[in-house]
Order: sequence, then C-alpha cells, then structure tokens
Amino acid sequence: MQWLLICSTSPLFLVYFSTLTNWPNHNQNVGIFPPTCNRIECPSFDVIQVGNGFEIRRYNSSVWMTTSPIEDISFVSATRTGFLELFFYIQGKNEYKKHIEMTGPVLTEIVPSDGPFCASSFLVSFYVPKLNQADPPPAKGLHVQKWGKKYAAVRQFSGFVQDSDVGVEAAALHESLLGSKWSDVVEKGKSTSPPSSYIVAQYNSPFEFENRVNEIWMVFDMEDDYVL
Ligand SMILES: *[C@@H]1O[C@H](CO)[C@@H](O)[C@H](O)[C@H]1NC(C)=O
Repeated sequence: MQWLLICSTSPLFLVYFSTLTNWPNHNQNVGIFPPTCNRIECPSFDVIQVGNGFEIRRYNSSVWMTTSPIEDISFVSATRTGFLELFFYIQGKNEYKKHIEMTGPVLTEIVPSDGPFCASSFLVSFYVPKLNQADPPPAKGLHVQKWGKKYAAVRQFSGFVQDSDVGVEAAALHESLLGSKWSDVVEKGKSTSPPSSYIVAQYNSPFEFENRVNEIWMVFDMEDDYVL
C-alpha cells in the first residue's frame, strides 16, 4: 500500500486509479462542521457550492506558518515531523519566545516529485490565530504564508489518516469534480501553485478517537465574478 501513496500523486495515475473503484455515495463526503472548530480557532470560510461529493469553499484571508519541504515516502511520517516542529513553535520555540494558542486544521501539502525514488515533498502548516496574524513570531526553518482570497474544492473523510488513504481520497475528489463545471476551473486555477499538489487538512489530535474529520483540499484561484 505504501507504493500506492508514493506513486499515486500524478493526476494521470489518479484518473487511472479512480476508474478501478466504485466510490461510495459522494454526498456523504461534505458538509460536516469539524467539532474541533467549536473549541479552537479555525479559519472561517464561505461555502460557494455543494456538489456531488465535493464542496467549493472560499477562504478570504488566512495566515499559515509553514515548515520547509520535508522529503519522505510516507505522508504520516512527514506530517508527524512537521507537526512536532510546529508544536514546539507554538509552545514558545520562536524568536519572541511567545506562546501561541492551538488552532485547526493542520495542513499537509503534498508536492509530488519526479525524482528516482518517487518520494514526495511535504509542507506542514499551522493556522496562525487572528491575534498573531499581524506579526507572527518568526522561527528558524518556518516561513509565513499569507493567503489572499483562495478557493478550495474539498472532500471530507473520517478516521486516522493512513498513507494509503491519501491517494484514494484525492482520486475520489478528482473524480467527483469531473463532469462538473468546477473540474476546468480547478485545473486552471491551480496552475499558479505547484501544478499537481494537494492538501490534507486534519482537525483532530492523535488522542481523539471519535468524530475525526479530515479533508482533501485542492486549492485554486478564481475570478470572483465566476461565482455569480
Ligand atoms: C468574504 O468576503 C466577502 C466579500 O468579499 C464577504 O461577503 C464574506 O462575508 C467574507 N467571508 C468571510 C468568511 O469572512
């Protein structure tokens, strides 16, 4: 199954793979408000459209603290590495020695690589609370990402994310977009960021066993008037 994750990130493979499987009812994969976000701060967003198996969201402005690229063959292991770095960061391991409140979700961006070992590059990000957005404490090895207006096609799934889930869920999102007007829009709007990358958003700590919410995001830019 490992093999599936590390080599499943090219869009062609996603399409090929997705034709092999009958996906369950797509409507079950959107519309859950992550319970975590009732307790801790999460970026707010507007739902632009709910489709069959996907949701289109708009994030107006959000600020993220992001690791350097982590080369790994495992999503789970790269996320753990990045999360620990960010965890120490919010505990005060930053230039201001400032404690920062925990937020959700933690993002892992997956950038497929064409290297000989089929490993991927992972960027792990922490959502910076509004309180700290004007001046996020700098820290070695971390950089700030300011998102202006960003759109995301989103699919939700539950449980503890395994390496083998990631390609499967991304393929399912990709497939659910096909045949909708969003397929082209997402493809076109993605060209500015690394082309075939996508994000896994995780809302729960490893100690929560129930009501776990995870999401696949395909982030894209779009002209505003397209919505209307
Ligand atoms: C995002 O901005 C639009 C106007 O551009 C506004 O109507 C909307 O309420 C904002 N949404 C959020 C979640 O702040």
